[in-house]
Amino acid sequence: MAIRLGDEAPDFTAQTTQGEVKFHDWLGDSWGVLFSHPKDYTPVCTTELGMAAKLKPEFDKRNVKVIGLSVDPLDSHQGWEKDIEETQGTAVNFPMIADSDKKVADLYDMIHPNASDTFTVRSVFIIGPDKKVKLTLTYPASTGRNFDEILRVIDSLQLTSKYSVATPVNWKDGDDCIIVPAVTNEQAKEKFPAGWKEIKPYLRVTPQPNKVKGEGQSA
Ligand code: BEZ
Repeated sequence: MAIRLGDEAPDFTAQTTQGEVKFHDWLGDSWGVLFSHPKDYTPVCTTELGMAAKLKPEFDKRNVKVIGLSVDPLDSHQGWEKDIEETQGTAVNFPMIADSDKKVADLYDMIHPNASDTFTVRSVFIIGPDKKVKLTLTYPASTGRNFDEILRVIDSLQLTSKYSVATPVNWKDGDDCIIVPAVTNEQAKEKFPAGWKEIKPYLRVTPQPNKVKGEGQSA
């Protein structure tokens, strides 16, 4: 069955390029990004894995652990990683699940038979420290994902979880945020000392809380 937002991320034990991973234990208190690739030694995947590796400092800053998956075996992953380092200029610095028996792919519904009955689609699952699924994305094999967007969503999710704000259309880090409807004006006075602009009673805009001096981070 498809995994929906708010579901607990299915737990599993799998062989990876960095040894056996028991998924929930491996996540610990971190956020997680689990993403699948159609196949080893393919061009689009090669660029994606290089980019995910280059962005490790950005993931670390956000307390996010990244793990990849394809349904090829470990020796294939290991050979391919040499090519990724050679062509993308960065060694793969996160575990890659060798899911030859498709156990994890099936658990996460990553094989869409009308697209391909053998390879996984490009799935992304962002998982919170509570092990709940916060985002799902599904891309076709021929379209590489945008990892800037994945970081942007993580920033938005983390702002919501810490400050009770949502982020508007095309929001970028540093832009104003929206006070979530569940927060009353009375509560907002406490939570948002920088104040807010009430465009409509349901549309209240406030400076990004972790950019406001005295609200978690200096401006
Ligand atoms: C790729 O990763 O480059 C790819 C995989 C399957 C189909 C098309 C592209």
